[in-house]
Amino acid sequence: MDAFARDLGWAKLQMSLTRRWCEALPRLDGVRLACSMHLDLKMVVAVETLLEKGAAVFLATCNPTTVRDEVVAYLRERGAEAHAWKDMPGEEYASAIDKAVAWGPTHLCEMGADLSAAIHERGLETRVKAGLEATGSGIARLRSLTPRYPIFNWDDLPIKEGLHNRWLVGLSTWQSFCERTHLTLHGRRVLVVGYGLVGQGIADVARALGGTVTVAERDPARLLEARYAGWEAGPMSPELLARADVIVTATGVAGVIGAEEVKHLKSGCFLLNVGHVANEIEVGALGTRREVVPHVEETRPHGRTVYLFAGGSMANLTAGWGDSLNAFDVTLATMVAGLGYIFSEEGAGARPGLHPLPRRVWSEVAAAAAGV
Ligand SMILES: NC(=O)c1ccc[n+]([C@@H]2O[C@H](COP(=O)([O-])OP(=O)(O)OC[C@H]3O[C@@H](n4cnc5c(N)ncnc54)[C@H](O)[C@@H]3O)[C@@H](O)[C@H]2O)c1
Repeated sequence: MDAFARDLGWAKLQMSLTRRWCEALPRLDGVRLACSMHLDLKMVVAVETLLEKGAAVFLATCNPTTVRDEVVAYLRERGAEAHAWKDMPGEEYASAIDKAVAWGPTHLCEMGADLSAAIHERGLETRVKAGLEATGSGIARLRSLTPRYPIFNWDDLPIKEGLHNRWLVGLSTWQSFCERTHLTLHGRRVLVVGYGLVGQGIADVARALGGTVTVAERDPARLLEARYAGWEAGPMSPELLARADVIVTATGVAGVIGAEEVKHLKSGCFLLNVGHVANEIEVGALGTRREVVPHVEETRPHGRTVYLFAGGSMANLTAGWGDSLNAFDVTLATMVAGLGYIFSEEGAGARPGLHPLPRRVWSEVAAAAAGV
């Protein structure tokens, strides 16, 4: 058995909630589902069943650095169409979105809202009945549109955001960092930029691994939350940047570490990003990059050494495996429950606009995961 088949078999064994929600889906003949999502091994557990149930599936990625080519190849063999490969260049990434829309989807499953943004910004005619969006960054984009079909937000759920964003991203990010660098955070000052749920998890786990944490946050309310949680916290400043040994961006905003911030970095400092937007760190401002060990590049801005982790892409997914199978099982079962809803007459028949995924759709997943 090859390594991929072995890992997939193990994932299926550990992801029983996802399998249960997949099995409960009806036949899906006539459904044309376009996906723009991380094409990670764990996704196979859901997508394979959608194909078996008769859905046509088009796979695009929401981030070329997180694509696993074996996942795409495996799902293609099972009937999916795809335009995605690891580190595909920007023009191919854009063309994947065009192809997915031109393919004629009836439903969308998105992480980052690339498909919906393209449809609305370019005024494309589509047969889309309903969509599902999983990320804070995607929801922020969708809020600036007037959707022409119902789109259900499953990011803001206590069993998605409250578990995955709050607890798992921090854990898997530092796990990847420690594994790839062979370092822990003892004696290091960690600057967490952005104190949303993701930043909160990053801060907690950094402390558990020996780091001394400071938070940079631009929203005064969030800044207060950070201080009430006991962190030293302030708005981003040259002083905070100059003291940090490790800086993690968790904002969903482009250019948080740009040319101006780079001027203040300490020699030997590591830069990591966990936000959905790959350009939270403007890697161009760091100059030439040289790989030292896999996923760690040395750069020399202003004559100082700065290490860029995972090329500035999502650290936990690009340089690591993302969430544990058991934790992601809850997330993926929730996504499958959401898909079941948008395939239903009720979901597809909702008025156009952005809606929260109804509680009853996901609360059964929560109950099953909690064993109650
Ligand atoms: N890596 C992963 O697996 C993973 C998983 C879930 C979410 N995400 C992504 O992580 C990012 C953060 O998620 P969240 O749910 O915590 O988002 P959030 O919007 O709740 O929090 C982001 C925080 O960053 C702050 N911020 C923005 N720009 C700033 C700046 N220049 N300086 C200081 N603070 C700034 C905002 O005020 C906000 O409080 C999003 O892009 C989300 O899509 C990543």
